[in-house]
Amino acid sequence: MDRVIFEVFRFIPEEKSEPHFDRFEVPYTKGMTVLQGLLYIQSKLDGSLGLRFACRAGICGSCAMHINGVYRLACETQVSLLGEHIRVRPLGHLPIIKDLVVDMTEFWEKYKLVKPYLIHSKNVPEKEFLQSVDDREKLTRIVDCILCGACYAACPVVDTHKDYIGPHAFAKANRFIRDSRDDGTFERLRIIGGEDGVFRCHTVFSCQEVCPKEINASGSIAELKMLTTKAAFTAFDRSKLKM
Ligand code: SF4
Ligand code: FES
Repeated sequence: MDRVIFEVFRFIPEEKSEPHFDRFEVPYTKGMTVLQGLLYIQSKLDGSLGLRFACRAGICGSCAMHINGVYRLACETQVSLLGEHIRVRPLGHLPIIKDLVVDMTEFWEKYKLVKPYLIHSKNVPEKEFLQSVDDREKLTRIVDCILCGACYAACPVVDTHKDYIGPHAFAKANRFIRDSRDDGTFERLRIIGGEDGVFRCHTVFSCQEVCPKEINASGSIAELKMLTTKAAFTAFDRSKLKM
């Protein structure tokens, strides 16, 4: 393979242009990622192409997009695995600002709803919280979420219920609920178990399938459903609200 055809989604709502795909021919180099191909287009073929990226190393989460039918990180996706034709679209469920760049405001607003930080109601130690190896083990993998938005874009429930909070927020809520240093389970479950919460999930596993960090968001949602139900049957006894 010495060249790759990129079909790239183009749209600028402010200019009232029609959404369409532009076709670019990009010379292939060994080890090329989809992000490198898009940056070649931007620097050599069409400087007006809008895309978002930062770390180029699968850490910042900003380059998630729809690539040949699947949500993936452009910086981690090898062109050689996709073949000579690559078609890219922006993340779904979020308003487009320009081309591959979406407005993440709604994503972050929903994320904030689940209080994604440690909440302390007990005595706070003077110096630091200590955590046992076993307690840290409970956070393995789930702590790796980079908030790329792939799970949110792939979730079919967001299609039918715009206010559904979303798998990214539930995975993060579960990360803090599992944390031995956190006392915010009760506050979070009131939101998570509400009208727009986990019980809207249809358990189709799309979120889990697309996650570039192999985070089991569906499993988190199932855990949160159990915890919310348990909370209802324990008359909101806060001390019993840990898995
Ligand atoms: S759970 Fe996975 S897909 Fe969802 S935002 Fe986090 S890293 Fe991205
Ligand atoms: S550029 Fe940071 S994850 Fe891809």
